[in-house]
Amino acid sequence: MTINTYLQERNWIFSNMVNILKTRGSQMVDRSKLTPVMQQYMDIKDQHEDAILFFRLGDFYEMFFKDAEIASRELDITLTSRDKKSDDPIPMAGVPYHSATSYINRLVKKGFKVCVCEQTSLPGESKIVKREAVRIITPGTVLDEEALNGKSNNYILSLFFNRMFYIAYCDLSTGEFNLEKTETEELFPVLYRIMPSEILIDKNNVPEKFFLSLKKNFFITEYKLDQETSDKGIMKEVDDLFLKKTGNILIDYLEETQKGTLKNIGKINIVENDDIMKLDVAAQKNLELIDSMSDDNKRATLFGVIDNTFTSMGGRKLRKWILTPLTDIKKIEKRAQCLEFLYNNSLIRRELQHLLKKIRDIERLINRISLSGNNPRDLVSLRESIKASNELKALSNKYGPLKEKIQSISDLRSLTDLLDRAIQDEPPARSSDGNFINNGFDEKLDELREVSRNSRKWLATLELEEKEKTGIKNLKVKYNKVFGYFIEVSRSNVDKVPENYIRKQTMTNSERYFTPELKEKEAFILGAKERIQNIENEIFSRIKKETIGYYGEILEISDIISELDCLLSFSIAAFKNRYVRPEIVDERILEINDGRHPVVEKVMEDDFIPNDLYMDSENERFYIITGPNMAGKSTYIRQIALIVLMAQMGSFVPASFAKIGIHTKIFTRIGASDNLSMGHSTFMVEMSETAQILKNCDERSLVILDDIGRGTSTYDGLSIAWAVTEYLHSIGSFTLFATHYHELTFVEKYLEGIKNHNVAIIEEGNELVFLHKIVNGTADRSYGIHVADIAGVPETVIKRAQQLLEKFENNDNSQQDDEEADFSSIRLIDRDTLSDQLDLFQEKSTEKYFKYGEAIALINELKKIDINNTTPINALNKLNKLRKKARKM
Ligand SMILES: Nc1ncnc2c1ncn2[C@@H]1O[C@H](COP(=O)(O)OP(=O)(O)OP(=O)(O)O)[C@@H](O)[C@H]1O
Ligand SMILES: [Mg+2]
Repeated sequence: MTINTYLQERNWIFSNMVNILKTRGSQMVDRSKLTPVMQQYMDIKDQHEDAILFFRLGDFYEMFFKDAEIASRELDITLTSRDKKSDDPIPMAGVPYHSATSYINRLVKKGFKVCVCEQTSLPGESKIVKREAVRIITPGTVLDEEALNGKSNNYILSLFFNRMFYIAYCDLSTGEFNLEKTETEELFPVLYRIMPSEILIDKNNVPEKFFLSLKKNFFITEYKLDQETSDKGIMKEVDDLFLKKTGNILIDYLEETQKGTLKNIGKINIVENDDIMKLDVAAQKNLELIDSMSDDNKRATLFGVIDNTFTSMGGRKLRKWILTPLTDIKKIEKRAQCLEFLYNNSLIRRELQHLLKKIRDIERLINRISLSGNNPRDLVSLRESIKASNELKALSNKYGPLKEKIQSISDLRSLTDLLDRAIQDEPPARSSDGNFINNGFDEKLDELREVSRNSRKWLATLELEEKEKTGIKNLKVKYNKVFGYFIEVSRSNVDKVPENYIRKQTMTNSERYFTPELKEKEAFILGAKERIQNIENEIFSRIKKETIGYYGEILEISDIISELDCLLSFSIAAFKNRYVRPEIVDERILEINDGRHPVVEKVMEDDFIPNDLYMDSENERFYIITGPNMAGKSTYIRQIALIVLMAQMGSFVPASFAKIGIHTKIFTRIGASDNLSMGHSTFMVEMSETAQILKNCDERSLVILDDIGRGTSTYDGLSIAWAVTEYLHSIGSFTLFATHYHELTFVEKYLEGIKNHNVAIIEEGNELVFLHKIVNGTADRSYGIHVADIAGVPETVIKRAQQLLEKFENNDNSQQDDEEADFSSIRLIDRDTLSDQLDLFQEKSTEKYFKYGEAIALINELKKIDINNTTPINALNKLNKLRKKARKM
């Protein structure tokens, strides 16, 4: 599923959900006629109107009224009714409590909120059992392991607007909490990078156009902005008032949904994006970094190719690294240096791989332990993971540039020792199942276990003895939950029962008895059982508390491990795919030899043809690329962007050599993507994306343009493409522009720094051979009809198209038969007329325009002169050069 379809689906569900829940229909009920339990239900439901209420009744969660109807439809469960006999029965549907999680996950995935209401008193303690809403589960607050994707974060985000956007976002399952601010035009790129599952927003706080777009693209929960949000503990440290406010809003909501304080959120990161490359929304989508645009091959993404991580937290970090390439050379080089070390040491690679495989998602484990934590297996997994990280620490000397990082892993030996001593290796999944604390850990527990073991022996002996005493061969000592321990005798032997047996229960084929002795032992055994359980629970809580005490250290280990995992992943990708280490420089230069597209080369059956590129600010910085359809233009320009991106992530790149000058922004305008749901036509989307690029690009940007101006009439399109070319040239961004407007190649003649390239092909008779090789110069034709033929357009249409093309190309204005006259009157392409127009265009109306473009270029050149570092003679030469240019204008 592409991001777009995913979002559309989510929106659809969400708008439906609101409609459905608003008409839930329970308001119509006369409450005085309801039973006390149903009145209790109504009171709780009143406070959670927008959620589906899972109301605990014994072993089931029941849903009523509209909630029941929705649940029955969405979960495919039976819709029944309560008080069937009444005139107005209440619709009802239920799920067993032990399998509720998967039902809840399914509802949340479909865009519903679920409120879980539990019994909070024991039966008999009060008139009716007390019940309370204990947790609200929304897309942004799911914590269940099954519902989360290991290799991606699940963020919930709050937005606050005050001339710019203030953002707080948190992944409840990892405890990560970030604050970030952003200019309004950067909002969507930032949100696409974070990809929150839920956004909290006050409709009256954000400008309407933003609200509408947000609502179209994300799962929105509306809240009412309270002017006086109180300062939450962790927010006290934050200086920026508005960041503090948006943080408080998020914490308020999380506390409301979790029904308590957030035990696992203790640290706030203020995200500064100064040394991060900016990727606009289009670049994130079009370069297929994380999500593929095609539905057929979901893994055909950069993430899919370079993700060889072994841990989930490594996978999550890799995603972040891909979406936030660095701009600080030192940081990039540091990563690349570590990567090179791993790349050159296959033994170390294998060893690290082996150790990482043993490490579970400790970031989520420790959070789960601190939030709910009733699974003893989590403690065992944590213990084994920390042990593996300790094994790694012990080997740190071998790890060259990674040594320091690995040495900084805290060994937490006291924790692993404690867990070793306390918890059995294969405990049950729920602490309530009991019997998971090791023998020898707690004296009292050992004693009680001994008692319980002896009692069992005593019972076995009792059975033997009684059999002998009474001569009843099939006499049995048994236990059940309701009646406790008893002696069972079959009906045929009842006459042999001695006098001291007291009847307890009569069955069809047998009688059950107890003796005072057995009764006494029963009280003792059951007492011991209960005490064992209590002691185990108490030990478990103590150990959990101690483990949670290491929260900070465990997150630090997780961070180091995830970083190692990413570097290892890069090195494996580099090794498997023959990547090289790029040279990173702080100059305006891009030099790539034998570059390849990292994703296309993986999915191709034939060999991928590598291509070069050379750009610098003095000579060539703008490629206009023409060439037939299917030649490889789009592939080439994307591959350049991907190589730059990979290099700045610290990764190696698919090339034989690469020298990469740091870029601070990458922009793309690629393909026709409709956004009809936003009320924009294809061309409108294309132009607004182009506008964004022109407004935001600078001379440290890389701009990728694929076929812009195609969605309108030829003249309009060409004129726009032309003007955009001149404008970008004047800014100085490195640009790659693939186009079918061959006329555009004319620009090379009068703007320095622009170079025409095309993709070579060979014509063999009627066949075209695509060489996929980028060469200097201009293509003369698009061979579109040929490609249409390969694609299976019917032969008659192809023939007719060829006929028409010939006519257009040969300027055949002579006699036409009637049929052709009809076509020619509406023809769109007439190359001859087009070139006539173009001449006119160049000579007259646009003459001024070209001059304007050249003037801008001249001004920019003037601006760039560094007078303090120019010798007099160089200054004179430069002046002379500039004067020559000015004279030509
Ligand atoms: N360097 C290459 N080596 C091998 N095959 C390639 C190469 N570049 C592209 N191809 C193949 O050619 C196909 C078409 O490439 P691409 O989409 O880049 O063409 P294009 O020139 O942009 O066409 P159009 O003008 O129709 O947009 C790719 O899907 C791929 O299979
Ligand atoms: Mg293309």
